[in-house]
Amino acid sequence: EAPSGLLPAPRLSGGLPVVGHSVEFVRATIELLFRANRELGEVAAFSVFNREMVAMFGPEAHEAVFRAPDAVLSPTEAYKIMTPVFGKDVVYDATPEKMAEQLKMLLPALKDRRMRTYGEAVVHETAASTREWGTSGVVDFVEFCRVLTNFTSSRCLLGKEFREGMSEEFARVYHDLEGGVTPLAYIDPHLPVPAFRKRDKARVRMVEMITGIVRDRRAHQRTGEDFLQTLMESNYADGRPLSEHEITGLLLAGIFAGHHTSSVTTAWTLLELLQNPTQLQRCVEEVDRVFGGGRPVSHAALRELTTIENAVKEALRLHPPLFMLVRVVKQDFTYKQFFIPKGTWIVVSPTVSHRIPTVFRDPDAFDPDRYLPGREEDKKDFAYIAFGGGRHKCLGNAFAILQIKAILALLLGQFEFGLCGDAIAPSFQGLVIGPKEPCRVRYRRRAQPSVTMEMGTELAAAAKDAIAHELNGAKEVPQAVQQAAAAAGCPAHAHVAATPSTSAGSSLRVKVDRDLCQGHAVCATEAPEVFAVSPKDHKVMLKVARPPAELHDKVRKAAQYCPNHVIRIEETD
Ligand code: HEM
Repeated sequence: EAPSGLLPAPRLSGGLPVVGHSVEFVRATIELLFRANRELGEVAAFSVFNREMVAMFGPEAHEAVFRAPDAVLSPTEAYKIMTPVFGKDVVYDATPEKMAEQLKMLLPALKDRRMRTYGEAVVHETAASTREWGTSGVVDFVEFCRVLTNFTSSRCLLGKEFREGMSEEFARVYHDLEGGVTPLAYIDPHLPVPAFRKRDKARVRMVEMITGIVRDRRAHQRTGEDFLQTLMESNYADGRPLSEHEITGLLLAGIFAGHHTSSVTTAWTLLELLQNPTQLQRCVEEVDRVFGGGRPVSHAALRELTTIENAVKEALRLHPPLFMLVRVVKQDFTYKQFFIPKGTWIVVSPTVSHRIPTVFRDPDAFDPDRYLPGREEDKKDFAYIAFGGGRHKCLGNAFAILQIKAILALLLGQFEFGLCGDAIAPSFQGLVIGPKEPCRVRYRRRAQPSVTMEMGTELAAAAKDAIAHELNGAKEVPQAVQQAAAAAGCPAHAHVAATPSTSAGSSLRVKVDRDLCQGHAVCATEAPEVFAVSPKDHKVMLKVARPPAELHDKVRKAAQYCPNHVIRIEETD
């Protein structure tokens, strides 16, 4: 019963006695969600296996959901389907406080400074994966992306040693783990079905494999510059180290969150570009312009690939890999006139909300220009939610975009591609939505490739050197190292080759929305005079609200590159 003055959420048609909308939900979840939005608009209630669900669509509703504290709308309970994969007491199975602490332990690998070192790893892996391609041929592109991003993300996040020890067995075991994450798990993740049995067997083997590496390192007092090492050295606030079980669970959470999502997005982006030759041509021209002179695939160079970045964003809008984000109502929740009682499951669907025509013009069209200045449809608050939003927004969003851009730039600089005629359609098999397989593409090596896949040019090495100094906590990075880094295009050292400000005369006021900050620290790298990251909660701290004109360009860059759009700038004359 809704309290007086409030209404229950309007009910979707078609529910059957006893089973409600269960059959439709299991058979065609996404169609049910589209129908709910078409029939009822922003808020629609339905029931699945005696569980009340309310779907909420559009920017205003998303904002209400994503800004709600965990004590009111909890992701932990909703994602307990991951417990058989990540393990007991890890991430979604832990208390909200413990989960927050554990997720913070993932952050060092995804922070801005560390990200600047990843380009080389992506180059290395992409070069290795295409080495045997010859001058022309056909490849199942979805499968290719799956294998490549498994290598790139494990190399970037888990380190070289882990990547090199990655056997075929690892790929097989990982595949079985993924196969156990299906919508059926929302009903009961322990049902006696083959996919869940395989998943459980795979987890046991995965724990053995990862624990083996951890023990080996400890026994031989070996360390690695990687994520595994970070976790091995992490402690909770009370000083307790992570157990082997927790290390394995968190590693799996990192791989799970980032791998398949990035792989299908890489595939979707190329497939969309191949269906839109004008956009494809613009991306190729951009790659040739940025890398044509033999420039290394540095972080700075990747930032210049704005046309490709917009194509990736647009592929993510049309095909968000996670089509359904779920929260459980822990305390009665009110949205506008609607009362949503405790115990209800709230569903937000990026797939459906990204197609609302009043939010995204001509929503079914692949139109990367919608993100250009003047339109910037991705900047409307809580409209673009491929990475979720608010306090649980994807921690790896900047890394994912960087990685996908690097792979596509390398491929487009080296090869010409064409479709083979396989149907291009989404496959709603698991929880991550990719293109239906097989999806083959033709490739032909370009007569004059524009991107060099050779590694370790002197300048890129210099930039890495400077970053390594800083990562190791050196207070003074030698001037010569800094200059070489600046020349290689490393923005963290751009001040060495001081650029004149273009802002003289204007005044600028900076605001930060701390609620949305997750501590990527891009701002503190771009404009350390204006921003810092609090050692306490890892969120942004504003040192000066009205920075002087010579800092305006830096502040604008900080705002432009903040992955969570935390920084707002008001310009006055
Ligand atoms: C959360 C999407 C890549 C780590 C999320 C959420 C979405 C998402 C929608 C929010 C879930 C919710 O609110 O219920 C994506 C997409 C990716 C991607 C589309 C690639 C294209 C990555 C990568 C990593 C990562 C590469 C790290 C290696 C995480 C983590 C969370 C998360 C740790 C949980 C954040 C929290 O609950 O506080 N992701 N993700 N993701 N993602 Fe990603």
